[in-house]
Amino acid sequence: MTAETEDYPSKITLYVVVCWILAAFGGLMFGYDIGISGGVTAMDDFLIKFFPKVHERKMHAKENNYCKYDDQNLQLFTSSLYLAALVSSFTASKVCTKFGRKPTILLASAFFLGGAALSAAAQNLWMLIIARILLGIGVGFGNEAVPLFLSEIAPVQHRGAVNILFQLFVTIGIFLANLVNYGTLKMHPYGWRVSLGLAGVPAIMLCIGSLIITETPASLVERGKELAGHKTLKKIRGVDEVDSEFDQIVRASKIAQEVKHPFKKLMKRSSMPPLIIGIMLQVFQQFTGINAIMFYAPVLFQTVGFKNDASLLSSLITGTVNVLSTLVSVYAVDKIGRRKLLLQACIQMFICQTAIGAILLVHLHSTDSLTKMQAAFVVTLVCLFVMSFAWSWGPLGWLIPSETFPLETRTAGFAFAVSSNMLFTFIIAQAFLSMMCHLRASIFFFFAAWIFAMGLFVLFLLPETKNVPIDVMVDRVWKKHPVWKRFMVGDGGSLSSKPTNSEKI
Ligand code: BGC
Repeated sequence: MTAETEDYPSKITLYVVVCWILAAFGGLMFGYDIGISGGVTAMDDFLIKFFPKVHERKMHAKENNYCKYDDQNLQLFTSSLYLAALVSSFTASKVCTKFGRKPTILLASAFFLGGAALSAAAQNLWMLIIARILLGIGVGFGNEAVPLFLSEIAPVQHRGAVNILFQLFVTIGIFLANLVNYGTLKMHPYGWRVSLGLAGVPAIMLCIGSLIITETPASLVERGKELAGHKTLKKIRGVDEVDSEFDQIVRASKIAQEVKHPFKKLMKRSSMPPLIIGIMLQVFQQFTGINAIMFYAPVLFQTVGFKNDASLLSSLITGTVNVLSTLVSVYAVDKIGRRKLLLQACIQMFICQTAIGAILLVHLHSTDSLTKMQAAFVVTLVCLFVMSFAWSWGPLGWLIPSETFPLETRTAGFAFAVSSNMLFTFIIAQAFLSMMCHLRASIFFFFAAWIFAMGLFVLFLLPETKNVPIDVMVDRVWKKHPVWKRFMVGDGGSLSSKPTNSEKI
């Protein structure tokens, strides 16, 4: 137990658990959007309506396996969401600071609802893209506000696990989307409308949830509502003696308010270590190749020779593995530590990507397909890959950036992490099918090379943050790290952050 933990008594109240779950529906929305597009783009009715050329190519007997889905517009259907999320996450960070987490989550749900309705009713490609943009704005707002909300109302000693609740709901969302796609596949000709429209259900849950949840004490204090902040803290902690934690929130918020331009402060040399780590973790997270699988698993499985429903069934299996393995992370993250989980996963993911690449290289040529055994082996490797991602880079890509910034740059720094995630998710979504067409099996070696590089990055540059209270991160972690300590001295930014952070301990 940390000193911080001992200082702040708390009980886990029913109300706070309800708040976590309701807010985590933001993660479920994000996951549903990730999981739904792959299955929908593999449905013939959908292709016939919006992408007839792709459908024709798919039906063509002597088709090139690796290229049947290579179409910029089809990829735009998937990727436009992430571009919108990228742009909106910066606005979301401002709304979050100025109006609070609760209204930001409410706004997210409104965008989600609009997007779900429009995509289910879409008559042409443009309606579909506009719907994706609305959903993307929802993701931008939700992904900025929900992890912050969860961390701020969690008792300190449960912050890691509560934060991973977001990722857990992301994986549940992906799984549900796969399940829905499996069910709607045979609903001709409008199964895809049902798949896209059902996103409205979690959106409504999030909307109702955002009206029930509390505003966080930190956000209330930050906006001058100290009394309400104190009352809320008592309510969510379930105890009366909250004064020491409340004083800490007031102190941290005063220090944060002194920093008038968090984005400028973020550009100072002393802010570089958490900024570089936050951005690189997200870039690397995407270059593991996870979303090549999450978005395009059904397409990928068809590529190796599965029929439509067998492909969707296989996605369901990977979805289940994803949810269950995330639970491992909830348990392990504060015991085994971040570095070990990330490094172990690099080894497992490297082996899987290389083996998938090798099998496809040797056995899958342009116009034939794999044998049943070979295809089953590929699915097994995909599962092993997803498993290791789910207990490491998946949750930790979100957790580490949320715990390594000092308070004065936390929302701004986190916005950079969110937008980097969105940018590279967009790049993978937009480029994967074309890359698969041109690089063929080597695409998997491409991801393996990135995984090797990210292993080295973790080994030499990522400090362990397990059990380190957030407000002593600068002194205990950054100033002690052989590489990053050089950034903590010498410029104006570090001079101001030095007393700031020691003051907060
Ligand atoms: C990533 C998503 C990914 C998901 C898979 C998340 O952490 O940000 O891009 O699709 O994990 O579970």
